[in-house]
Amino acid sequence: MASIPVFLTAEKHHILIVGATTAAIAKVGLFSDTGARITIVASGAADALTDAGLSAAITGNKNIIALDRPFAEDDLAQKTLVYIATHDELTEERALRLTLAKGLPVNVVDKPAKSTFTTPAQFSRGPLQVAFSSGGVAPVFVRRLRSSLERTSPPSLGALARAAGSVQAKVRSLIPDTTRRRLFWDALYDNAGKYADMADADIERLIVEGARNQRLGVTTGQVQLVGAGPGDPDLLTIKAHRALQQADILVYDRLVSRDVIALARRDAELVYVGKCEGKHGVGQEGIHKIIVEGALAGKRVVRLKGGDPTLFARTSEELAALRQHGIHTEIIPGISAFQGIAASAQIPMTDRDYSNKLTLVTGHLKDGAYKDWARLAGKGQTLAVYMGVRGAPKISAGLIAEGIQGSTPVAVVENGTRANERRFYGTLAGLPALVAENAIKSPALLIIGDVVRNAADLAKPEFTKLLNAASA
Ligand SMILES: C[S@@+](CC[C@H](N)C(=O)[O-])C[C@H]1O[C@@H](n2cnc3c(N)ncnc32)[C@H](O)[C@@H]1O
Repeated sequence: MASIPVFLTAEKHHILIVGATTAAIAKVGLFSDTGARITIVASGAADALTDAGLSAAITGNKNIIALDRPFAEDDLAQKTLVYIATHDELTEERALRLTLAKGLPVNVVDKPAKSTFTTPAQFSRGPLQVAFSSGGVAPVFVRRLRSSLERTSPPSLGALARAAGSVQAKVRSLIPDTTRRRLFWDALYDNAGKYADMADADIERLIVEGARNQRLGVTTGQVQLVGAGPGDPDLLTIKAHRALQQADILVYDRLVSRDVIALARRDAELVYVGKCEGKHGVGQEGIHKIIVEGALAGKRVVRLKGGDPTLFARTSEELAALRQHGIHTEIIPGISAFQGIAASAQIPMTDRDYSNKLTLVTGHLKDGAYKDWARLAGKGQTLAVYMGVRGAPKISAGLIAEGIQGSTPVAVVENGTRANERRFYGTLAGLPALVAENAIKSPALLIIGDVVRNAADLAKPEFTKLLNAASA
């Protein structure tokens, strides 16, 4: 059943709860601190409330009224919302009929078909409230969503939100510029944990102090070099995800998957810099210009890079350009292609039987060769080659010429961790044919070494011949 989410202003409502069951008392507990008036009616209601520690005599909450007698039609007068939670079917039917006749919203607890509204699963931190519903079709998904919020929202967020509300006008006058003000609130949110256990007045003081500093010209622009991982958006770090949601400008290239870009803030400016193997789109200088100018304009710039920003990503050059302008810069790591692929193909990169060394190299052979072929691969080693599709024939021939066995197992994984991932297996000698026959395209990673024997796919019978040849 489709639902319409609304939030009711608690203090303008008078809720009637019919019944003294555990569910009825739980509803009293749920609403007791909201400011709503609550009347519970049923024989035994007063004792049940006292047992739960919710009676006005215990809590001093005059908004809770217990009518210790059976439900009567007059109880509906002046009420705006009705819950029915009784085991007595006759009372349930009568209360429901009379409530519907009056056109009041009614919830018969655990009977959505009879109800005109449901109470959603909730998450709250002080004044921040989130209500969840799946219309009853996917309660487990709702639970998952709620628990992910519970996990990522520090408890102090509630106090911070309360304090922010109190000094909102002051902050607006200190930081009139809307972009700078948003950055200020964003930064506060990021550091919510710092305000744990502080009194509201202290938090308010610190917020105003921070806003004053901002006004004094502490620069707000910054660049985050963010690892987007190999493609699957679930492989982003929580920090990367947060950066995406806060970016004013998102600078990305071909290696960043659409699924990851889709996580950006809706009104972020997306700048495609078309950097890809062999072609550089706006060029490295152009990228420097975009990120530097964005930050100098006070923007929060996210430079998204496929995989991890510290591996084969020209990050040193971008860091140098940013440092030249004194721009605050942060690197947020990502899962590199070799890690994503090691997981999706189930190939541990080191292994007690086969390899105690992992080498990551680029297949962009600047002068047509590596300087140290002999040390790259061989028994007891794993070699992961980035950007190696085009150079596969040279890589294969070069390694074999240095004495690496042509029968060494090889895996080539294209579009690793993405929906269109393709995995191929062969030997070092057969690598050029493997790439050509399967029309393997970039992005793809070559993994060379005996660890490939552990790949989940190689447990399949059709690969027995390959493994036997490699063992020979
Ligand atoms: C410029 S490098 C960037 C590497 C990236 N910084 C990383 O840590 O994965 C690009 C190369 O990474 C590899 N690569 C990146 N994403 C990949 C993916 N999803 N599947 C296979 N290879 C990938 C390919 O070899 C591609 O040519």
